[in-house]
Amino acid sequence: MGKQQRIKAALLGLGTVGAGVVKTLMQNGTLIKERTGYEIEIPYILVRNPLKQRAVSVSRETIVTNPETFLTDGEVSLVIEVMGGVEPAREIILRSLQAGKHVVTANKELLAKHGAELFKAAHDSGVQLLFEASVAGGIPVIRTLQGYMTANRVHEITGILNGTSNYILTQMERDGLSFAEALRQAQQLGYAEADPASDVEGYDTAYKLAILTNLAHDINLPIEQMTVRGISRIDLQDLQSARQFGYVIKLLGRSRQTGNGISFTVGPHLLPLSHPLAEIHDAFNAVTISGDVVGDLTLIGKGAGEFPTASAVVEDVTALLRHTGHVLRQPVWDEAGTDHRSDSVTKTHYLRLQSSTQEHDFVDRLIARIAENNGAEILHKKRIVNQTQAIMSYIIQGLSMEQMEHSITEMRQENPVFETKGVLPVWEAADHPETNTPHDGLQPYEAAVG
Ligand SMILES: NC(=O)c1ccc[n+]([C@@H]2O[C@H](COP(=O)([O-])OP(=O)(O)OC[C@H]3O[C@@H](n4cnc5c(N)ncnc54)[C@H](OP(=O)(O)O)[C@@H]3O)[C@@H](O)[C@H]2O)c1
Repeated sequence: MGKQQRIKAALLGLGTVGAGVVKTLMQNGTLIKERTGYEIEIPYILVRNPLKQRAVSVSRETIVTNPETFLTDGEVSLVIEVMGGVEPAREIILRSLQAGKHVVTANKELLAKHGAELFKAAHDSGVQLLFEASVAGGIPVIRTLQGYMTANRVHEITGILNGTSNYILTQMERDGLSFAEALRQAQQLGYAEADPASDVEGYDTAYKLAILTNLAHDINLPIEQMTVRGISRIDLQDLQSARQFGYVIKLLGRSRQTGNGISFTVGPHLLPLSHPLAEIHDAFNAVTISGDVVGDLTLIGKGAGEFPTASAVVEDVTALLRHTGHVLRQPVWDEAGTDHRSDSVTKTHYLRLQSSTQEHDFVDRLIARIAENNGAEILHKKRIVNQTQAIMSYIIQGLSMEQMEHSITEMRQENPVFETKGVLPVWEAADHPETNTPHDGLQPYEAAVG
């Protein structure tokens, strides 16, 4: 940043996060100047529609629609990208980096898809590309992995990384709402987009997990190879059965070191009630990082929204101003850093089936046979029988997701007396030799509701 006491930044986007950034600089600009010695000036704000009414008052002359205005201004040394999407954000960031401008971004999708190209450009130009706001909003999880966990080997990261899905699951469980009703409520409150697919189908979590896994395990997870499951098929019945078995259902992103490389998974899991993330409700996010020296570290906070996200963006800016933007660990985005990976190490699963009222005992025997044939064990079971149908839930230990789905399909072909309504993995404590893993949570328990 040189010796100037005032830096000029271009802000790309003046939506939810952009307005939060402007308001934060208005509110705490003096404090930031006292602490860093720099005043931040924003002479350019890039938007799509210059006539739109804004949530914050800015000088009309700062609003631009052409990125050339700031790309060609040599006095602009910093670009803050909060516009979202892949293009034109990718091209503008790339050109900014190539022009020697530092970049702060909140764009997880762009980093998960094009991180390699952008980090290379930053490296080649000797500038910084900081991205704290891209994962878990206001929670400083990127800084923790980049600057704090340098003396630790990270064994595992497990996170509730999507506030919208967590809000929906919380409302379903707390108020007995269906998925559709809880989604509608989330949309009315502004927690969910008009098109909620990225949030509820797990893609947003997958982008964030790819970024965290990269920093934690030095591998570039190709998101197109990830099996991503969302919460749209979760039924109230699943949440109720899970609770009776001693679990809560959460949409998790999880990556961990195994004997065969890095295992990763994105999808709804049954999490033991004793796990710290089981207590994370509503739109909150949380991430548990397990390091070989520090043990388990859980960070909790607001994962989205105007101010939590703006906080992460502006903290990245102040890190640059304090010259501490030079982080110790950078992401590995090239294929050379890629390790073996698989997402099928979980051996405990929840299963929900439906049959006619008359067939439930027979179905029960079929499931017992599947477990026996595969050397697996039924840890929990429950059934609800009414006049028209029977709903049976099980937790079976000793079968991978593929084995479970294969066995059930085969059994159903021979005996088409039941329908599979859901198969979900159960969170299992990983076997880390150097750390304590207190969240076992798999004590056998049986509940039968007639
Ligand atoms: N919202 C959150 O809670 C949150 C949390 C974490 C990360 N993020 C990330 O932060 C970024 C911004 O999110 P947001 O919620 O603030 O989005 P938003 O409210 O939709 O705002 C996007 C802004 O970018 C501008 N923009 C979009 N495309 C443009 C283009 N092609 N050319 C010029 N301007 C363009 C829009 O201009 P107009 O206003 O003129 O349309 C708008 O001002 C995204 O990457 C998102 O994933 C958001």
